[in-house]
Amino acid sequence: MGLIYANSFLRYKITSRENLLLVEKNAERQKALSAMDIGKVVMVNDPLIRACNILILAVKPQDFKELSVSLKEVIDPACVVLSIMAGTEISFIQTALGHPLIVRAMPNLPVEISMGMTAFTSSKELVHEQIMLVENLLSTTGRTLSLKDEKQLNAVTALSGSGPAYFFYFMKHLVDAGVEMGLDEHVSSILAKQTMLGAFHLINNGQKSLDAYITSVASKGGTTEAALKTFEEGNMGKVIIEALKNAEKRAEELSVK
Ligand SMILES: NC(=O)c1ccc[n+]([C@@H]2O[C@H](COP(=O)([O-])OP(=O)(O)OC[C@H]3O[C@@H](n4cnc5c(N)ncnc54)[C@H](OP(=O)(O)O)[C@@H]3O)[C@@H](O)[C@H]2O)c1
Repeated sequence: MGLIYANSFLRYKITSRENLLLVEKNAERQKALSAMDIGKVVMVNDPLIRACNILILAVKPQDFKELSVSLKEVIDPACVVLSIMAGTEISFIQTALGHPLIVRAMPNLPVEISMGMTAFTSSKELVHEQIMLVENLLSTTGRTLSLKDEKQLNAVTALSGSGPAYFFYFMKHLVDAGVEMGLDEHVSSILAKQTMLGAFHLINNGQKSLDAYITSVASKGGTTEAALKTFEEGNMGKVIIEALKNAEKRAEELSVK
C-alpha cells in the first residue's frame, strides 16, 4: 500500500521524487526500492524524517508498536500523520507517538488503479488546511469521503474495505454458473465482466432507484424473475446484511485501542 501511495502521488505530480522519503527497515527491500527510483530510501530513525510535513503509516497494525518507538524520536511536532492501518484507533496512535495530529483512513484495493474508495476521519487538533492536504493526497488514489465519527470506520471496513472481495466472490460464481451451463470459461468471464461494468455505469449515471432498475430487467414471469425468486428463497438479501454485520463486528473485535 505504501508503494501504491508513493506511485500515485508521483503520477499526479502532487509531490516529486526529491520530496518523497520511503522508510524501509529491510536491507534487501531497501535495495529494491532504491532501484525503483521513486524517492529517497531511508531507515526508520533517519533524521530526514524530521523535515516531513506528512508521514504515512502503511505497516501492518502489529508492526506499529515497534515502529512507533523509533518514529517518536524523529517526528516533527507540525507533521500530519496519516494512518491506513486497519483497526488502529487514533487515540492509540496518538499515545504511541506522543503526537496529536492524526488522520485515520480506510482505503480499498482498487487504489492500485486510482479507482479506490477511501473514507477518513481526523483528530480534532488538525486545522482545515492540514485535512485538505491529506485529502488531496488520498484523492490521487480514487474517491474520498470524510467521516465525523471514527466509530463508523468499522462499517466502512465491512462495506468498502472488504467490498472488493464480495464483488470478486459474486463474479466468480457468475463465471462458474456460465461454465456449468456449457459456456467456455473465457466466454463466461467476458459476459460476467461486461455485464457488471455496464450495470454499474447504468446505476452510476441514471436516475432510477435500484428497485426500479431491478424491475426494468425483471419482467413478469420471465427469466430474471426466475433467478431473483431463487435469490429470495435463499434469503440472499438477509445473508448479505448478516455478512456485512459480521465483518463490522470482526473489525470491532480486531481494533487496537
Ligand atoms: N491491502 C489492502 O487492501 C488494505 C486495505 C486497507 C488498509 N490496509 C492497511 O494498510 C497497511 C499495509 O497493508 P499492506 O497490505 O500494504 O501490508 P504489507 O504488504 O505487509 O506492507 C507493510 C510494509 O511495512 C513494512 N514494515 C513493517 N514494519 C516496518 C518498520 N518497523 N519500518 C519500516 N517498514 C516496516 C513491511 O516490511 P516487511 O515486509 O519487511 O516486514 C512491509 O513492506 C495495513 O495496516 C493494512 O491494514 C490495507
